Parts: sequence; C-alpha cells; structure tokens
Amino acid sequence: VNSKTAQLIDLHEQAAKLYHHILVNTEMGQPALDYLHNRGLTDETIETYQLGFAPAQRLLKPFFEQRQADYQLLRQSGLFIENAQGDLRDRFTERVMFPLRNASGHVAAFSGRVLKKSDDQPKYLNSPETALFTKSRLLFNFDLARPAIREAGEVILFEGYMDVISATQAGVRNGIASMGTSLTTEQIYAIERTTDHLNICYDGDTPGQRATQRAIGLLREHSHLDLSVIQLPEGQDPDEYRRAHGDEGFQKVMQSAKETPIRFQLRYLRRDRALETDSEQLDYLNEALPLLAQVNEPVALDLYLNQLATEFHLDKAALVARLKQVRQVDG
Ligand code: GTP
Ligand code: MN
Ligand code: MN
Ligand code: MN
Ligand code: MN
Repeated sequence: VNSKTAQLIDLHEQAAKLYHHILVNTEMGQPALDYLHNRGLTDETIETYQLGFAPAQRLLKPFFEQRQADYQLLRQSGLFIENAQGDLRDRFTERVMFPLRNASGHVAAFSGRVLKKSDDQPKYLNSPETALFTKSRLLFNFDLARPAIREAGEVILFEGYMDVISATQAGVRNGIASMGTSLTTEQIYAIERTTDHLNICYDGDTPGQRATQRAIGLLREHSHLDLSVIQLPEGQDPDEYRRAHGDEGFQKVMQSAKETPIRFQLRYLRRDRALETDSEQLDYLNEALPLLAQVNEPVALDLYLNQLATEFHLDKAALVARLKQVRQVDG
C-alpha cells in the first residue's frame, strides 16, 4: 500500500465516521435516522454498516480544511465536486450514506441514497472511479460476508445494498451485491476464489428477472460455479420480502425458494406467452430444448424432458430426438 492510497483510505474512513456521527448523534441526522428505522433497520445494523448521513450544508470541506488536508488529495478522493475555478464542494448532500468497503474492509467509496424519491435526482449516487474505487471490481459486503460464505459453502448475490443489509439483519450473512451494474467477470473471479456455489437472488420484478437471466449466462460462460436461483414472489425485492414476512420468513425463503437455473430459465421463456396455439408452443419448445441441451446431469435432464412431454402431451422420444439434433448443431 503506497502512501497515497493509505491517505485516501484514511480520508474515506474519517468521512465515514463523520457521516455516521451526523446520522446517529445530531439533530440534522434525525430525519435520516427515522427513515432507516422506518425501513426496519436496527441500531445494531446501522452500526455494523456504519451507515451515515450527508446533510444539506457543507460538511467534509470545512472538516478536512480544518485538518489541513492536502488539496490535491481532496481533489482525487472523489468526495468533492470541482468547479471551473478549482473550488471544491461536497459531492454528497442530503443523502443516506452507505460506505463501500473493499475486500480488505477499508472504506474505498460511498453510495448515497436520497431520502425521498424524486425525478431530478438519481436514487443512488456513487463515488466516481478513483485510485481506490473501481466499480467493476467492488462487491458490496464481501469483506464482512467472507467468513459466512466459507461456513455456508455458498454465497447469495443480491441486487441492492439494502437487500444485503436486510439479509444480514435477518441472520443471513453470506450476501453480497454487485454495484447496481450487471455483474462483471472481475467480480465473478473474486467470488470463485471464495466458494463454489452461488445463489442469484435478484429482485422479483421484471428488471430483476432480466438481470437474473443475464447473470446466469455470464456465470456459465466465465465460471464453474454451481448455480441456483432464488426467486421471490410478487415482484418483491429481498428487503421488501423480509419486511413483509419477518426474519424467519426471510431465512426460510432463502432455503426453500432455491431452484435450478434451468427451471428459472424455462419459466422466464414462458413469461408473457399464452402458449395456446400450436405455433406458440412450438416456439417455446424450440427455445427450451437448447436450454435442456446444456444439462449434463442425466437424471435432471430426464426430469425436465418428462415434464415437457407431459405438459404438451408429446411423445418423449420425439423430444429426445430433437434434443440430439440441437446438441449436434451446437457441437
Ligand atoms: P431501495 O429503494 O433503497 O430499497 O434500493 P434497492 O436496492 O431496492 O434499489 P433498486 O432495486 O432500485 O436497485 C438496485 C441497485 O441498483 C441499488 O442498490 C444500487 O446499487 C443500484 N441503483 C439503483 N438506482 C440507482 C441510481 O439511480 N444510480 C445508480 N448509480 N445506481 C442505482
Ligand atoms: Mn457446493
Ligand atoms: Mn431492482
Ligand atoms: Mn430493489
Ligand atoms: Mn429495495
């Protein structure tokens, strides 16, 4: 660790402490603290994640100037916005602050959430890329989750920070999240060094399902991870599910809603399809068979083939023959 990096980390850790202090100890932070409590987070969880609040007025600028922090260092930290004259002002204002720690547990960046959704503000604002922070590499909560991932022998990949935090509060500590962007190969390699089994638990809404479908493809292409999908009902995200069903309900669904990627993909293929006409059914089967062609486990394959044959009143031998053709074409 060179001294520039160490200084930047020190700056981030001081900022995290300050944001946290504002949240938990000041009048200014009260609305944000109420907000987090209303979202069902306990003080212990707020402590664990060192959640904070960036108030409307300038905070970091005077704080670091008083401590004679180096101007160039402040510029490079990503914590400020610079105008044409080179003046710096706090990048994060009126936002609930989520410190983003790197794999070694050091605060490397922040994400700030608005208290109230509005059209002219992004819901989450992230630090820009800096010497400390590469968005495509960071996995939220990876530092805290690692022991739990090893113990459980598996990791749960969520969509949002709040899902990970909510899961932790429910006692499910092996959760991580990518940075809102779709999963990257760098993140996949980091995960694969820690475990051999990954559960995708994205939001139950349409974007979440689309992201699940994409993640399955990417993970298959770039890893040997054993995959499962945890699909939540009624378009809920994991945090909403915990709020609706409690910690125990949450723990339970993480176990009981696990399905194979193929099962998820077959359902995904069916979405918005009436499957009433012959041609709709044939289209579906023609897209389903290439999925089945990837199943190497004979028993599982047989199970899916039986289900398809039963559902569409087909001769299973015909499906098997068609599957052979598909496999030959794919090489
Ligand atoms: P809450 O509304 O606080 O419960 O957040 P969420 O985690 O449910 O958010 P959502 O499902 O909308 O998005 C999932 C993840 O995408 C978030 O945790 C963020 O990482 C990212 N994200 C969402 N909105 C934005 C945004 O406006 N800007 C950026 N950069 N990322 C976002
Ligand atoms: Mn395993
Ligand atoms: Mn979502
Ligand atoms: Mn969500
Ligand atoms: Mn949410």
